[in-house]
Amino acid sequence: MRILLGVSGGIAAYKVPSVLRALREDGHAVRVIPTRAALDFVGRATWEALSGEPVTTSVFDGTESVDHVRLGREAELVVVAPATADLLARAAAGIADDLLTATLLTVTCPVVLAPAMHTEMWLHPATQRNVATLRERGVHVIDPAVGRLTGADSGPGRMPEPHQIVDVALAAAGASGATDRDGGDLQGLQIAISAGGTREPLDPVRFLGNRSSGRQGVALAATAAARGAQVRLVAANVDSSVLGVVPDGVQITSVETTAELQEAMLEAAASADVVVMAAAVADFRPAQTRTEKTKKHADGSVESLELVQNPDILAGLVSGRREGQIIVGFAAETGDADGSVLDHGRAKARRKGADLLAVNAVGADVGFGDVPNEVHLLDASGSDLGAGGGTKDDVAHVVWDAVVRLLSSRSGSETPTVSTSAAGRLSG
Ligand code: CTP
Repeated sequence: MRILLGVSGGIAAYKVPSVLRALREDGHAVRVIPTRAALDFVGRATWEALSGEPVTTSVFDGTESVDHVRLGREAELVVVAPATADLLARAAAGIADDLLTATLLTVTCPVVLAPAMHTEMWLHPATQRNVATLRERGVHVIDPAVGRLTGADSGPGRMPEPHQIVDVALAAAGASGATDRDGGDLQGLQIAISAGGTREPLDPVRFLGNRSSGRQGVALAATAAARGAQVRLVAANVDSSVLGVVPDGVQITSVETTAELQEAMLEAAASADVVVMAAAVADFRPAQTRTEKTKKHADGSVESLELVQNPDILAGLVSGRREGQIIVGFAAETGDADGSVLDHGRAKARRKGADLLAVNAVGADVGFGDVPNEVHLLDASGSDLGAGGGTKDDVAHVVWDAVVRLLSSRSGSETPTVSTSAAGRLSG
């Protein structure tokens, strides 16, 4: 695929060579178009060396080939990272005072913008209006992440991580992009994924919940979409900054409680080829939800809380599974006196009966090595199908690679279609 990578003048530009590298390693031809200010952060030589293509900033360079028109016509995907407040404003207004903004006016392919700026600039009504205008025109503007900004400040405005930008961009490019990247090996599949953690209300202001951010489920959704699947994401209390990297085209249903998650997943599973339960589900809920705020007694004591068990959604999905449907569960385990992480994982795999259970170690007792997040994949009998890991995206690809192998073996194909980019991720 021919990709234009625009870079505008923000400090986050220093991370964008990683975006360029990832796109190149996936086999795409990438032409970088920085703004003049962007070159103050990362120089022309870096972009030229990493892209293998000439780098120009002005419409007066390359006039013999009318670059802004030619590049725009040839492009199959445009990614701008970081997109500063100024770049968003110029793009929204249709101003064309450099090669990047002039090219944005000539392209007809998908355009993905990854904003990065201080929180005040992001939240300013002018910027929000510009983002709304661009979105109305079909431009995919990724919500910035919440986190540390240039100075001591932190808040919404941080550029999403390079791998997230790449996933969103390739998913936005649609099936053709996915085909180039991963063989589009999930194309034609409907996949339902749960993410986040359920909350059980005690009263109007309190709930029982857990710390799940939803990032693993969101990574599963983004990577599945990038590999060509039609994805439905059921998000339990996932922050909008985390959901911001979910590509267009992924249908999101937001839920709060286990009962709501169960209803949404049962509905999504009815037409899904693959179902993944990545959400952390509250095992118990209060027997009663009060309509008024629970008060302390005059002596400072509180009534004890009666809990009732929630349904096991995964077990229900397994018992009601459609023919041929693949069901995947996740289990975060710690080792203890009764057994290792894998012992507990194997017992859970047999108990749950899912086709795949992705088991990872959590807490101080990390039993699987020192990569950020390593999973062992177990089948329904508890047999180890291999391990892999790294980032949440890497873990997601490990899961999809296993799903692809399972589908291939079921269809009797002699040469399982394991994606090339995923080759080597799973070592068993
Ligand atoms: N799960 C579910 N419904 C529940 C609890 C868990 O669907 N009520 C799913 C999770 O989404 C996950 C898998 O089951 O895919 C394992 O979750 P985990 O919390 O590890 O399992 P539990 O059955 O709750 O076991 P434990 O006793 O270890 O808490």
